[in-house]
Amino acid sequence: MQPHNQILGTGHAVPERVLTNAELEQMVDTTDQWIVERSGIRQRYICEPGSCLSDLATQAANQALDAADTTAEEIDLIIVGSVTGDMKFPAMACLIQQKLGATNAAVFDLSAACSGFLYGLHIADSLMQTSGYRRALIIGAEMLSSMINWQDRNTCVLFGDGAGAVVVGPATDEKGLLSTYIKSDGSQHALLFNPAGSQYPPSHENIDSKLATINMAGREVFRHAVVSMTDALHEALKRANLAPDDIDLLIPHQANIRIIEAIGKRFKIDNSKVYVNVDRFGNTSSATIPIALNEAITTGRIKEGDTVGLVTFGAGLTWSSCIIQF
Ligand code: ACO
Repeated sequence: MQPHNQILGTGHAVPERVLTNAELEQMVDTTDQWIVERSGIRQRYICEPGSCLSDLATQAANQALDAADTTAEEIDLIIVGSVTGDMKFPAMACLIQQKLGATNAAVFDLSAACSGFLYGLHIADSLMQTSGYRRALIIGAEMLSSMINWQDRNTCVLFGDGAGAVVVGPATDEKGLLSTYIKSDGSQHALLFNPAGSQYPPSHENIDSKLATINMAGREVFRHAVVSMTDALHEALKRANLAPDDIDLLIPHQANIRIIEAIGKRFKIDNSKVYVNVDRFGNTSSATIPIALNEAITTGRIKEGDTVGLVTFGAGLTWSSCIIQF
């Protein structure tokens, strides 16, 4: 059997600016009570206009490198999951590579919306097993504030900005990434999308017609999120030959407290074993899992020997999962 890979270090970064529900009450027809009851979100972090997401991602990556006691030159693979890179091209991974000085790495972005980080972890794990990479940096980073229609109360209350990163390297024992899983269903792409792209290139007309912002069928997305994340967690557990009872901490995608609670309930995992920070960060898409993972590790919520489940869901539709033993 191939040796596992393990998480060697984690980091996260968010912008300084906090946007509260009270401020959103002044912007659209909503209330703090509605937002908290329907989503669990109390605040989110928002980048200042003109700021660079790759700076935030680099900050998170440097933290992860420090925690892993690894230099940027030792990194031979960088994968960035993001749908809000600084530029259309080159890949944000190239900008981050330069900012880190990771001169020996092969780097690329991948587009899997909220599943971007776990897709990246799955691909890094696979490439490390087959192509000889020894140290990978996987980043989830988003500036969703750049594609929000701030007049649309259905979406503008839900999302935030942030970045999280992990360094992965070979495990020295049986621990580490026990299983990873990715899956997609393109037939449901119209439930959650931003049409800006080659079909609707940037123009005053397209931007005025809201063709550059997030469109979401919230109730349908909610239903699919529960079904897909259930499939993802089942599959990762099966591949790791484990049962829900074996999980010491579940870190689900932080989109909505009601989705998070529904997943915990389906697997009969007590709330005390389910990580929640959606109240403070909102939905930061591909960044939610690495931000939560970094918080859970640095606050001692994850201890040596713990089995941790990661599970996510996003536009595409895409979903993915991972079981890690620390
Ligand atoms: N404030 C007040 N009222 C609102 C707001 C708001 N911010 N937004 C919507 N409403 C209204 C609606 O217009 C609707 O009014 P109506 O009944 O008069 O038409 C009413 O509230 C109820 O709307 P629902 O859509 O039924 O509300 P629901 O309970 O489904 O909650 C929500 C909406 C929070 C969007 C929920 O459906 C959800 O979280 N869906 C999943 C969203 C998600 O997770 N997206 C991202 C996942 S993938 C990724 O992360 C990219």
